[in-house]
Amino acid sequence: MAEANTQALPPVPEGYFEALAEKALSPGWAKKKPQMWPTPRPKYVPAVWRYAAARAALDQACDFVSPEFAERRNLIMVNPIEGNIYPTSMNLVAAYQLVLPGETARSHRHSPNALRLVLDAGDQTYTIVNGVKVDVAEGDVVLTPSWHWHGHSNFGSTPAFWIDFLDVPLVQNLECMFFQDHPDRNEASTAHEPDSKLRNKGSNLTTRMRESGTVEISPGWVNTIGLHAIGLRQGQSQQHLARIDSSIFAVTAGTVRMQVDKLGLVELSRGDVIVVPCWHAYSIEGLSEWSQLVRVTDEPVMKALGFVDVSRV
Ligand SMILES: [Fe+2]
Repeated sequence: MAEANTQALPPVPEGYFEALAEKALSPGWAKKKPQMWPTPRPKYVPAVWRYAAARAALDQACDFVSPEFAERRNLIMVNPIEGNIYPTSMNLVAAYQLVLPGETARSHRHSPNALRLVLDAGDQTYTIVNGVKVDVAEGDVVLTPSWHWHGHSNFGSTPAFWIDFLDVPLVQNLECMFFQDHPDRNEASTAHEPDSKLRNKGSNLTTRMRESGTVEISPGWVNTIGLHAIGLRQGQSQQHLARIDSSIFAVTAGTVRMQVDKLGLVELSRGDVIVVPCWHAYSIEGLSEWSQLVRVTDEPVMKALGFVDVSRV
């Protein structure tokens, strides 16, 4: 064991630190706070959002928010840490959105990648992506990768509710935000592709989950966002150690029970959302005869940067 250095240090010249500060320099040997630590210290916390509450609030907003005036009629799931006004997790944001019958949400494109998970939608509900009309239905996961024009229309007779997921917080931190409104306000559709590659039909996902449990959705289609569909029979469970990626889970069928570090036990039903920030161990257990979740993560970012391997050392 090294002996403590009891030798007195020479005095710091008067005004030395003040002069450094004026030059925007800071002494690395006297940091105000440590800047490295042994394992991740996530600033975001696990949190839950309930579909029923969000849906009621969106219904209420119909009286005073129209897509004519707002970009979208949506409710952002803001991680409840002090000072936060936007991200759900470090790199992702999620929001519940409502499009009423007869409404069209105007078209735009942006550098952030986006996708929507459809909770409830009747016939004649569409997303138009780069001029292609893509039907959306309950349980679908529809992708709008970076810089693809997209707008949404509900020509049916029932309200459409979905959850948007975007990598906006990541793009903001990378300072590479680009955004354009479509010159025609609502992009006209030039083709109709109900079976577009951008659409992962809920019914197909359910079939695949019943065969193999966890299913990777559209691997490689979105550079920054990882997508998995997880199917659980009653009593079936998954245990996960602390991970370097952060996950947002949305339940798409049945009821599950999750145990999350620093949050405890929570039951979630269709449409409910939970965020599990990085470095929080968690487990999921199916409570109903059959339950499903979609897991949305920043895992591809962590993999591309090489940090997944580091986190397993
Ligand atoms: Fe968008």
